[in-house]
Amino acid sequence: MLKSILLISLVLTSLSQYLWNPPDVISKGPELIIKPLNELPTSLFWGNINGKNYLTVSRNQHIPEYCGACWAFATASTLSDRFKILRNAQWPDINISPQVLLSCDMIDRGCFGGRPLNAYEYIFNNGITDETCLAYQARGRTNGLDCEKLGPCYTCDYNGNCYTPDNYLLYNVTGYQRIVGVEQMVNALQSGPIACGLDSTPDFHAYKGGIFNDTTNSMRLTHFVSLVGYGVENGVDYWIGKNSWGTYWGEGGFFKIVKGRNNLGVENECSYPTPDPNIRRVHNKNSKSYEEIVPLSKSLFLESEKQSQQKFEPLKHKTCRVPQSNYHGKERITSPRAQDTITTVPISWDWRNISNINYLSWTRNQHIPQYCGSCWAHGPTSSLADRINIMTNNSFPQLSLSPQVVINCNGGGSCDGGDSFAVYEFGHKHGIPDDTCQQYIAKNPLVTECSDIQICMDCVPPSPMPGQKSNCSAVKNPKLWYVGDYGHIAGANSMKAEIYKNGPISCGISVTSDFEAYTGGIFSQVTLFPQINHEVSVVGWGVNNGVEYWIGRNSWGTAWGINGFFYIRMYRDNLAIETDCDWGIPDLDRSR
Ligand SMILES: *[C@@H]1O[C@H](CO)[C@@H](O)[C@H](O)[C@H]1NC(C)=O
Ligand SMILES: *[C@@H]1O[C@H](CO)[C@@H](O)[C@H](O)[C@H]1NC(C)=O
Ligand SMILES: *[C@@H]1O[C@H](CO)[C@@H](O)[C@H](O)[C@H]1NC(C)=O
Ligand SMILES: *[C@@H]1O[C@H](CO)[C@@H](O)[C@H](O)[C@H]1NC(C)=O
Ligand SMILES: *[C@@H]1O[C@H](CO)[C@@H](O)[C@H](O)[C@H]1NC(C)=O
Repeated sequence: MLKSILLISLVLTSLSQYLWNPPDVISKGPELIIKPLNELPTSLFWGNINGKNYLTVSRNQHIPEYCGACWAFATASTLSDRFKILRNAQWPDINISPQVLLSCDMIDRGCFGGRPLNAYEYIFNNGITDETCLAYQARGRTNGLDCEKLGPCYTCDYNGNCYTPDNYLLYNVTGYQRIVGVEQMVNALQSGPIACGLDSTPDFHAYKGGIFNDTTNSMRLTHFVSLVGYGVENGVDYWIGKNSWGTYWGEGGFFKIVKGRNNLGVENECSYPTPDPNIRRVHNKNSKSYEEIVPLSKSLFLESEKQSQQKFEPLKHKTCRVPQSNYHGKERITSPRAQDTITTVPISWDWRNISNINYLSWTRNQHIPQYCGSCWAHGPTSSLADRINIMTNNSFPQLSLSPQVVINCNGGGSCDGGDSFAVYEFGHKHGIPDDTCQQYIAKNPLVTECSDIQICMDCVPPSPMPGQKSNCSAVKNPKLWYVGDYGHIAGANSMKAEIYKNGPISCGISVTSDFEAYTGGIFSQVTLFPQINHEVSVVGWGVNNGVEYWIGRNSWGTAWGINGFFYIRMYRDNLAIETDCDWGIPDLDRSR
């Protein structure tokens, strides 16, 4: 009898009531050590600790469809940020995948709600991958995207086969704690962001800036966010929150709310995970699965120079970038080129680590959720985002630029390939928003019209069931990032000058099957008739035992190469990487 009542009440339970139930799991691992509040700093913001930003990139849970995934984003954000703190913001940022939680965590309810404490327990038992292994698709196990369909990591080739990479990285937590009330929250924030529940009232939805102060006393637990700091302004104490509703919400995606009044119930249920410094590399080649621990402290660089095996197998990837000789896009040059002004450069230069600062934006995988030949859009958008980070001294917030908007607007091509130079022209004429306006879906639009909704969008409840579509509309006047000057470049010395002065550039390369199979070391392969068929970004150079090499960024996910990056021998025009490059200079004054 009691059992059936429980069952019925469980079925009838609405989402918010479900969230009121005590969590199934509370805490694991070392307990929080509590210090009196007067011994702790009176303000703290993880976006700016002595000038360094420890917060990973902002996200939007409501695109490309509405999904009640706040709990997965709050979990992924606190864990990603805490990894960044643990690693002192060194390259690379780790962006934990909320999609794994939506599809694989069986305690929570996918797009219909969940809680971070359950999610940490899932991660503790299973580990979790990053965004380039399982990209956000705004669907979960309760509305059409099962874990079995995806696994924790996959990528796709141009035949439409999706498969688990030979090896990929798995992240874990060593424990997690539930915390309640100001004293515990402030103490927990000393080690990094915390995930907190609150009531997302209509006023909170409409928040535009300032210190939010609810006067309705509404405290239902309907939403989860990450708290990333606290402070005091004109005598008013506040928390600083990171939401997952895009940068067009609130203050660039962030908010302030009064502290010490349990406003919106924000002090009722908080929690934080402790990241495991032992990152595992899962090998699953020839169905023999084993794991290896990759120590974070050790450089991922492999010393040996690998000789290419010259296998010339069929390529897994199709041509995604046309050689520029086909187009001859016109440059825009209003001030002297770096190659004409810079006469000497250092023997090594690496934008992943200039005086211990990593200036690079996040790593991408162009081939998920399905194959898409959009390298031509990824190379330039990542180089431009990196350059904006450089121009702003890597200050908060961390930026990404949307390759999907460039595809939606035919700013150079489609998933069937394109012209990277045109992306800089597009950035100059139209501007490019960040990824929270348009999720990368690896698809051509049905109609390429560059309409408002194809540039920036938002979707409203409910989370759609299988076969249903979400209710989405355009967000007007989003923040756009513009390009000023842009040009072509070729030759090692000119490339070095440009990279040194202004930041990463994007380059066409002639990909071979050996390059596709690259796992580390300095790659070297000179082919007889190189054909530019792919676009990458070049972020620096170095020298190892007298061998000079480029440091390249690919867009094939972190499972490929060295965390998605590669080293390739300089000067002999390996894979034609010194032949056909482009650059653009962000115009911050014009960027609204
Ligand atoms: C840039 O940020 C670093 C800390 O990350 C700081 O030491 C340096 O002074 C800043 N430089 C400028 C020009 O603001
Ligand atoms: C995660 O770490 C915990 C504690 O170190 C360990 O017990 C657990 O097996 C790990 N999980 C995975 C999937 O490796
Ligand atoms: C917030 O609103 C309450 C009334 O509900 C008021 O008493 C309090 O002073 C306000 N706090 C701030 C900081 O405005
Ligand atoms: C970054 O470069 C500095 C030298 O500028 C070096 O001491 C440090 O070990 C490097 N960090 C990493 C993670 O390689
Ligand atoms: C879609 O959402 C808008 C509010 O953004 C609402 O006015 C409209 O009625 C909704 N349409 C449907 C079909 O639910």
